[in-house]
Amino acid sequence: MEFPVKTGAPARQRTECAILPVFDDGQLRGATKDFDRAARGAIAKLVRSGDAPSRLGTCTMVHRTQGTAAARWLLVGCGKHGDFSAKRLTTALGAAIHLLRTGGAKEATSFLGYDSPLAPADVARHSVETARSSLYRFDELKSRSDPPSRLARLALGLKDGANANEVRAGIKVGNAVASGSDLARDLGNRPPNVCTPSHLADAARNIAKRYKRMEVKVLDEADMRKLGMGALLSVTQGADEPPRLIVLSYRGASPKEAPVVLCGKGVTFDTGGISIKPAPKMDEMKFDMCGAGSVLGAMLAVGDLQPTLNVVGIIPACENMPSGRATRPGDIIKSMSGQTVEIINTDAEGRLILCDAITYAKRFKPRCVIDIATLTGACVVALGHVYTGLFCNDEQLAKALLEAADRSLDLAWRMPVHEEYGDSLRSNFADFANSGTRDGGASVGANFLSRFVDGLAWAHLDIAGVAWRANANKGATGRPVPLLVDYLLSLDGQ
Ligand code: BES
Ligand code: MN
Ligand code: ZN
Repeated sequence: MEFPVKTGAPARQRTECAILPVFDDGQLRGATKDFDRAARGAIAKLVRSGDAPSRLGTCTMVHRTQGTAAARWLLVGCGKHGDFSAKRLTTALGAAIHLLRTGGAKEATSFLGYDSPLAPADVARHSVETARSSLYRFDELKSRSDPPSRLARLALGLKDGANANEVRAGIKVGNAVASGSDLARDLGNRPPNVCTPSHLADAARNIAKRYKRMEVKVLDEADMRKLGMGALLSVTQGADEPPRLIVLSYRGASPKEAPVVLCGKGVTFDTGGISIKPAPKMDEMKFDMCGAGSVLGAMLAVGDLQPTLNVVGIIPACENMPSGRATRPGDIIKSMSGQTVEIINTDAEGRLILCDAITYAKRFKPRCVIDIATLTGACVVALGHVYTGLFCNDEQLAKALLEAADRSLDLAWRMPVHEEYGDSLRSNFADFANSGTRDGGASVGANFLSRFVDGLAWAHLDIAGVAWRANANKGATGRPVPLLVDYLLSLDGQ
């Protein structure tokens, strides 16, 4: 999709469809006012009739556009005037694109950010991300897919004063985030018989091939054994599908600069193992590799944006299956760190593959480690499908991640990591257990991981509630790619 920028008088822009904001006080402003003036009050009349949209995200298409150079007007309700935010912009534009997706226009011009208090570069970035994510489809496995959308171009109608370089940079970031999110969504949506650990490794190899500064290394089961990754191996041992440990590194700064390490949980299917899950919704456990998908998506965006910093993506990938060779509840394993773990519940497998990945991360002497995982159902209970749970042992890192979440509209909420959340992990037989109380389960999971970070600045993003949507719109969301990319860009050159 293309995103040209248009400045100058709005009503004179030649376009197949002008996307115009309408607020619920009925006052016409900015580009909408300019169109109304050119059309001799036609929009004001529509507002007076009561038929103009005003509730956020409602749309009305108008074809009688006399006096203006637009073939159609798409009036979009933007809610209350005054607190127009980036979030509102994306909701309104998303609704407009949703409607245009199946329409006849091949091109449209959005004036939703023309008169807004947002910086033009942010309008550009969020418009690009929203347009591309609203047009995302996953139909590669349908034998008869819907015809592709005709909409191929979205022009951004901005004021004359908008700084062209900044706007171009905003478009570039928006495109990189959208490409990364699309990749994360594709990987998440692919079925577990296609998206296997080897498939994730191939996806990493494809990224490495595209960029000079990117390198990939893929470890197999024999390598894991040599490294003593007993925790990761205990999860994969019931599966016939071979595991992989994927290491994708980007070198954008001197090798002396400590890298950011991203660790993504890559359980390509989580049956629960011997502690097997109930049948309803078990198909959704194909999404249990969305942490891995978000790391690959973020790395793709990093390749596109080439920031001046070093980043390493580490992905432990395997299946969690029951079988005659599977780990039993009660088994005790030795992690790469040397600590022993009593497996109380084989369904608490994410923490087991991540703890070895975190130990492995130490060899890169990272400035920080951020793990991303669909780790606990308890996090879904706590935060629903709105916020990612952020657990962090470092104030500066936590602050930077929360700010990135705000800017990128990819929300995160800080959750506690007090050591008492580890009390229930006590074991009479090993150093500690892999699962404890259900109460506060998201923090118990974080506490388990914290036992492997060994002095590093560390953050854990529990994305169990936000990585995919269930029901009618079932599918991966691509979260938290926008948050991760925004965070990495905030370190650019620092
Ligand atoms: N992948 C699941 C977490 C999950 C469950 C994410 C439902 C999204 C929706 C994870 O491996 C898991 O099974 N966690 C257990 C941990 C428990 C056994 C300590 C859970 O949350 O029940
Ligand atoms: Mn599980
Ligand atoms: Zn899992």
